[in-house]
Amino acid sequence: PAAAPPISFVGAIDQGTTSSRFIIFNTKGEVVSVHQLEFEQIYPHSGWHEHNPEELVFSVEACIDGAVKKFEEQGHSKEQIKSVGITNQRETTVVWDKTTGKALYNAIVWTDTRAQDLVRRLKNRLGSSELTSRCGLPLSTYPSASKLLWMLENVPAVKDAYERGVLAFGTVDTWLVYKLNGGPARDVYVSDPTNASRTMFMNLETRDYDSDLLDWFRIDTSKVKLPKIVPSSDPEVYGTLASTVLKGFKITGCLGDQSAALVGQKGFKPGRAKNTYGTGCFLLYNVGDKPVYSKHGLLSTVAFDFGPGEVMYALEGSIAVGGSSVKFLVDNLGFSESSAKVSALAETVEDNGGVTFVTAFSGLFAPYWIDDARGTIFGLTAYTQRGHIARATLEATCFQTKAILESMAKDSGKALKELAVDGGMCNSDLVMQTQADLIGIPVERPAMRETTALGAAIAAGLAVGVWENVEDLNGINVEGTTIFKPQISEADASKQFERWEKAVQMSKGWAN
Ligand code: G3P
Repeated sequence: PAAAPPISFVGAIDQGTTSSRFIIFNTKGEVVSVHQLEFEQIYPHSGWHEHNPEELVFSVEACIDGAVKKFEEQGHSKEQIKSVGITNQRETTVVWDKTTGKALYNAIVWTDTRAQDLVRRLKNRLGSSELTSRCGLPLSTYPSASKLLWMLENVPAVKDAYERGVLAFGTVDTWLVYKLNGGPARDVYVSDPTNASRTMFMNLETRDYDSDLLDWFRIDTSKVKLPKIVPSSDPEVYGTLASTVLKGFKITGCLGDQSAALVGQKGFKPGRAKNTYGTGCFLLYNVGDKPVYSKHGLLSTVAFDFGPGEVMYALEGSIAVGGSSVKFLVDNLGFSESSAKVSALAETVEDNGGVTFVTAFSGLFAPYWIDDARGTIFGLTAYTQRGHIARATLEATCFQTKAILESMAKDSGKALKELAVDGGMCNSDLVMQTQADLIGIPVERPAMRETTALGAAIAAGLAVGVWENVEDLNGINVEGTTIFKPQISEADASKQFERWEKAVQMSKGWAN
């Protein structure tokens, strides 16, 4: 009899806001090996948030080596890894000198609000209200554009490189692909549309740079090089790894992390949605092969680009602070030993005891877009215990998700029937039950929650035939889903939500 075909695996780099990971999946979408490393979060001033770009690369390389080692210890051989995909934190902006490949400044992270004044000035520039209908994003501190402009105004080394025409700009996908390929020697300088659509420089319809947008931002492309926009799944354009134990292995997929989670949740068809409770929290709703522009505070973005005829768009509700609010309770306020224990602390009380916490550490994103809001706790009394504040912290993300779903229903004309979830915070049954109660529809939590990395593996695997097409993927990661059904009345949910909305209005203007 013919020998059984060798078992294939796909590797996924997941470069997130607080940690990097390398995960190796089998063709059933099961995690076979994983290695994870945290890296430094740099907060030089209030509202500023940076990463060391070199450290991001080192952490990724170390994760690859670590996960492959564990993989081989299980008796597998690295040659069974057919390709590598990348998924990454979006909008975070890196600049470097294209002649040396060296970063010129720390990466400005997507949560960073230092460009607040610059954004205010830009909003007064003629034509500012027309940007969103081209690029899908609102003018705010969130997209990469405001971060690049801030560096050009405030960092002499960046300005100088721009004037000399040697400046390279990239989101984290671009930086990683460039560095993992060996930097200037090979000069692989690309971005996929799910990442490029987060800059404000890309036209959502053409999925290419829009010269009117670049002119509006006064970006001279003869002075700053922009990465070529290429499909999210492709056997050639992302090059090969130049170092690590996987030296010579191909990179064949690339997706921004929220798009990757939608793919990992198999949100291939219009009408599918997922909510990822990571550092932030991001709800993406597949709207089909044409962008839908929101009238209610949501973003329009690319869901994935798997080549001609296989491009999907999404409406997105972005929440700046999700799991990071839990980390804040642990790291800054010493509420608990670990994020995992905050849910248990919240369960020591029956309800929030009248406390509402608007966790607007980076202003409020969707659907509010209030740059100058800051974190505000309402309703403290002598009765308040830590448990109440913990509970109010967890609820904040659930309330914002409800606000987003309401906008989504208005924009799409359809109400969601169930919500697929993933990400760290969804490990808490309390958070998931609260979420279901507030939105009044079932919340579906898969057993395997590494859906972001799985999405990157799918993009990479499709490019090299590990899976023939997306239909091949329908059966994966379906067993063991937990469903949280709403347990409170609509009237109760609305009452709680009204209080939240009042608190949002009252948190405005603090950063002025
Ligand atoms: O837009 C920012 C987003 O990509 C970051 O995702 O998972 O770090 O919250 P996450």
